[in-house]
Amino acid sequence: MLCVGGKIVSVGTTKDALRDPWLKRNRKKVTEVDCAGRVVTPGFVDSHTHPVFVGPRLVDFEKRIQGASYEEIAAAGGGIRSSLEAVRKAAKSELSAKVLAALQDMAAYGTTTVEAKSGYGLTVESELKSLEAVREAAARWPGTVVATLLGAHTVPKEFQGRSRAYVEIVAKKMIPQVARRKLAQFVDVFCDKGAFTAEETEQIFAAAEKNGLGVRAHMGQLSETLLWPFLRFNPASFDHLDHVNKDDIPQLAKRDTMATLVPGANYFLGLKEYPHARRLIDAGVPVALATDYNPGTSPTISMPMAMSLASTHMRMSAAEAMTAATINGAWALRVADRKGSLEPGKDADLAIFAVNDYREIPYWFGTNRCEMTVLNGEIACGA
Ligand code: NIG
Ligand code: FE
Repeated sequence: MLCVGGKIVSVGTTKDALRDPWLKRNRKKVTEVDCAGRVVTPGFVDSHTHPVFVGPRLVDFEKRIQGASYEEIAAAGGGIRSSLEAVRKAAKSELSAKVLAALQDMAAYGTTTVEAKSGYGLTVESELKSLEAVREAAARWPGTVVATLLGAHTVPKEFQGRSRAYVEIVAKKMIPQVARRKLAQFVDVFCDKGAFTAEETEQIFAAAEKNGLGVRAHMGQLSETLLWPFLRFNPASFDHLDHVNKDDIPQLAKRDTMATLVPGANYFLGLKEYPHARRLIDAGVPVALATDYNPGTSPTISMPMAMSLASTHMRMSAAEAMTAATINGAWALRVADRKGSLEPGKDADLAIFAVNDYREIPYWFGTNRCEMTVLNGEIACGA
């Protein structure tokens, strides 16, 4: 694989590469990485993460061990709301340091493109600060970051019982300001019981559309919501999809809205059920895998772990998991023209694993076999 100026120029045998006239002349200038006995994959595209938070939620963790559910914990004052105060108080530099540390960890596990959501501030000021922190961290990381405004993550306490007023703030203040300052490419909504209704989600999607931002949504994590009415907004992805109405599946199969599955959340919540990946894939729905990195339901940055869970709990083959973690993630972020596969012309985003066969990546769960990551042509870890 020959990479020049952050792009992949050719992919093939070493013999063929050495015939390249440019390489013949410039061989001494090139950094050679011998990958014999290794597996080189496209860098993972983690298309769903929530990295802008301050600390872990250990009280929630303990309560869940004692048997409380995600919804019970949220109702008792834990959950998303319990992460808000620290983010509201934090300096932007503190948040961007946290995001950068997560991005660096991700790269060490083979991830080169990351979607990063805000969503733990839930005031105009703290959501803007969160997205600025994402931008600051992204500028210091050689990989690629796609930012998403998740102002509609939950109704904050001060708006309890007045969700309509909060949605107005998201639609009329947050979205226009984020769009004007180009702080995010997408708007996300947590559409579920205890969060936002389908009607509120449509209102937020309409505001995003009006302001030229793409949309995606957390759907069907706790309960079923009909998906087809949202397709008119061309969502880039519906994420979670633990509960899907069977009539939505053929509709999704016809569209390029990605079904993004995040089995780390099911694992961490100790759920017996996982999203029905087979039902989706066998019906022709495009499926992506992501970590859902967040302090409440999925505190992992590991795409290999998400792939392993997809294989062991969702009956996705290693090949399907690899596709879902790379090119389909890139589609979910609408960057598939540049990311997600090893092809001439695409960005030089690679992960090198100390394994003999790509199927070992989901097989050796809970350990990191990634030896080196190349992000936009820059070697970031290993060797
Ligand atoms: O993707 N479901 C909504 N958002 C996150 C959880 C956020 C949290 O609990 O802090 C998720 O699972
Ligand atoms: Fe999420």
